[in-house]
Amino acid sequence: MPRVGAKALHLLDPEDAHNLTIRALAAGLGPQQMTRDDPVLATQIGSLALPNAVGLAAGFDKNAEAPVAMLRAGFGFVECGTVTPLAQAGNPRPRLFRLTQDRAVINRMGFNNGGLEPFAQRLSVRPKAAGVVGANIGANKDSGDRIGDYVTGLERLWGLADYFTVNISSPNTPGLRALQTKAALDELLGRLAQARAALIASSADVPVLLKVAPDLEEGEVESIVESVLAHGLNGIIVSNTTISRPEGLQSIWKAETGGLSGAPLMTLSTHMLRRFHEVAAGRVALIGAGGIASGADAYAKIRAGACAVQLYSAMAYSGPGLISVIKRDLAARLKADGFTSVTQAVGQT
Ligand code: FNR
Repeated sequence: MPRVGAKALHLLDPEDAHNLTIRALAAGLGPQQMTRDDPVLATQIGSLALPNAVGLAAGFDKNAEAPVAMLRAGFGFVECGTVTPLAQAGNPRPRLFRLTQDRAVINRMGFNNGGLEPFAQRLSVRPKAAGVVGANIGANKDSGDRIGDYVTGLERLWGLADYFTVNISSPNTPGLRALQTKAALDELLGRLAQARAALIASSADVPVLLKVAPDLEEGEVESIVESVLAHGLNGIIVSNTTISRPEGLQSIWKAETGGLSGAPLMTLSTHMLRRFHEVAAGRVALIGAGGIASGADAYAKIRAGACAVQLYSAMAYSGPGLISVIKRDLAARLKADGFTSVTQAVGQT
């Protein structure tokens, strides 16, 4: 989107601006990267090869309406969702706030989405060659069997998504993050592993990732890594938004309820990523998200242990032109330090 477009969008209510952006992208009006990615940016999430390590985080394209447009804009992978089995309206508006002075966002969307069926339809007709598209799955707010909802998502989208993310870290569905505690997580991941084993008996396997909050107690990192390894998951995305409010926020919206993302999340989420890297010690892939707004931020996540990164909030401020700026700067930093690929730099402190 040209700068003038991004500026005009900022005059609108944030959610209206977002919906307009998605409509424009779905109609093919997005930007297009004309050059191939620098090979130094290529990476892997387990067995999944990515042309570049910079991905679009979940929540931007909840209904899988524009993944191809975002791949064309330059992302190395795009995560759609969170999608729940049934369509749901989410929380009442306003539920999305721009903290402009803080380069941050607070949201309490509450998994507003159109449900699995239209999501599956869209994924099934997309040109697969356009690139890697993941499905971030969740549970309906009023579900009587939340774990069953994740299994339903995995089964319905199997064969359609290039990877899955199990989202148990949204602060906006009451009780959801309790799935991060040991017993609940083991039950969830156990049932998903069972469903996955049945699916791969007759079709190809794809990576399954877990997405965690940055607001974990110290001991929880160990127990989450243990569960992830025990149930054969392939990676952990660190992290979702925070319910904390770091010191120094300036914006009038800072006391709004919801998850905070953007620049003020960088320190906390990178600290949590480093903790996961210490505990996982290379046994599972880590994806870094939270506060990335520059090549330096992306590089810091990689050096802290991430094999790939994701971002969302910074793009709301800078527009999709930011993707190529980040990639160019990341490539330059990797080369300046003597690395020939992202994978060599992972966890090199
Ligand atoms: C999100 N995020 C998110 N994550 C997720 O797993 N499922 C979701 O549906 C959403 N929805 C969502 C909506 C909005 C408006 C925002 C800003 C964020 C979290 C997102 O994927 C990411 O983890 C965090 O925002 C941190 O990255 P950034 O935004 O600081 O780059």
